[in-house]
Amino acid sequence: MPTPTTAYRPTQLPAWQQLAALAKRGVAPIAELYRQQPNRPEQLRVRCGELLLDYGKNRIDAEVLTALLALAEQSPLAEQRRRLFAGEPINTTEQRAVLHTALRAAAGDPVDPAIAAEVAAQLAAVERVSGQLRSGEWRGDSGKPITDMVNIGIGGSDLGPKMVCAALAEYCQPGLSLHFVSNVDGAEILELLKRLDPETTVIAVASKTFTTQETLLNANTARAWYRDRLGLAEPQRSRHFLALTANPAEAIRYGIPAEQVLEFAEWVGGRYSLWSAIGLSIAVAIGFDQFKALLAGAREMDQHFYSAPLAANMPVLMALVGLWESNFQESASYAVIPYCERLGLLPAYLQQLDMESNGKSCQLDGTAVDYRTGPVLWGQTGTNSQHAFFQLLHQGSQTVPVDFIAAINDPLSNAEHHQVLLRNMLAQSAALMSGQPAPAGQPHRYYPGNRPSNTLLLDQLTPHNLGALIALYEHKVFVQGVLWNINSFDQWGVELGKKMANQLLAGEGGSDPATAALSAELAARRR
Ligand code: F6P
Repeated sequence: MPTPTTAYRPTQLPAWQQLAALAKRGVAPIAELYRQQPNRPEQLRVRCGELLLDYGKNRIDAEVLTALLALAEQSPLAEQRRRLFAGEPINTTEQRAVLHTALRAAAGDPVDPAIAAEVAAQLAAVERVSGQLRSGEWRGDSGKPITDMVNIGIGGSDLGPKMVCAALAEYCQPGLSLHFVSNVDGAEILELLKRLDPETTVIAVASKTFTTQETLLNANTARAWYRDRLGLAEPQRSRHFLALTANPAEAIRYGIPAEQVLEFAEWVGGRYSLWSAIGLSIAVAIGFDQFKALLAGAREMDQHFYSAPLAANMPVLMALVGLWESNFQESASYAVIPYCERLGLLPAYLQQLDMESNGKSCQLDGTAVDYRTGPVLWGQTGTNSQHAFFQLLHQGSQTVPVDFIAAINDPLSNAEHHQVLLRNMLAQSAALMSGQPAPAGQPHRYYPGNRPSNTLLLDQLTPHNLGALIALYEHKVFVQGVLWNINSFDQWGVELGKKMANQLLAGEGGSDPATAALSAELAARRR
């Protein structure tokens, strides 16, 4: 088995070449595959706990599936997975381990004892602070209990907690409202602060690096609000400020008291950080016990990913099916459509997870790839999206594979609504697969069909199942990154834009004539 060095070139693997040959040969239409293979519905499905993945509605026959599994076997996947869980520095450009799995490990799991102790201490701080905020023991400077918490962060320090809090609204404590501010657009924070009472609000400055421009500017604005409204000279030193960070020194330098700095480790990637102190807002919203249930669900998926055979491994199968679509079927994007309004932020969360992880063109040895890597991910909830972009999914000139996601049971809905919701989802995936010939003289009513989809069913949207769902996508993205021979854990692509923004802020008009001209326009028309 090759190790992830210069020796590994995915396109040179026999299985890759076989897949290319199979793509050229062509695969029968999906609907036809179901006719040829009566047990396909049972065969092309896999379970993990209360999650079921049905991947039968994909353009894969038995030969393609065998070749995809052979690709995983021939790739360094097994070794890289071992290295991931063992905490080896697989983030090679930053020489870091990638140990989000350790954040949800249980006693007895094979985690380095020093790391397990560090995680336990950090989780204990989340438990303590979230408990004090929820019980009313944590008081503002004027002695009032807290009614509102504002998480100021961006990217991974925002998207995960915000998505989970929205998804688990059912579990949230009444009387304690969570708010999320991410954009440097001042209208976001200024409008929010107008609605809040500083005496009963706490600000959590969430930033792994504690150097992010947007987050620090928003934190400064919140600090000024406390100065103006409460007359505090240094609000950041009060009980109204918390820091969630892997850079405690910088948070303390900012003025936040050490005991109000909740730490996590450098080896927690930003987009994998909701399981760490960055998840404080989740623990505040749903309680620490439910936060632990979220972690336990993710651990269940970790264990499945680590030990299930490739042919019955949910993240591996999802990754392989996605790779087949990207690299052998010319699909450039895929859509995630949750049939659950509370999962409305899932596509945005997954955009960072997938596109910041695998939007890369540089192999581990620095060589440029000559094959497609991370696809564009987009989506919105169903049924809303049916009345927006499903037209393109059914009749557009490009194929967009879809992940349909639904909870079989929803105690917040009722039987009538929920049946309509779920039947709509099934109808969409069936219509995408089967298509329909055009009636005579009406070519505009032609549905080509053979459009692939996965269906992911959760028994119910519980913290446990949500944890498993998120971990499923984390591992899927990891598997694809390994197969494509890229580093899924850095994000150098975002650096250049940050640097140029700073240059522009420093008064440099722009290094190119187009930017200089637009800068001049902004300056001329500013009121
Ligand atoms: O700019 C990208 C990024 O580094 C993300 O990877 C990260 O989640 C986000 O910025 C926020 O970073 P931080 O948590 O350090 O403020």
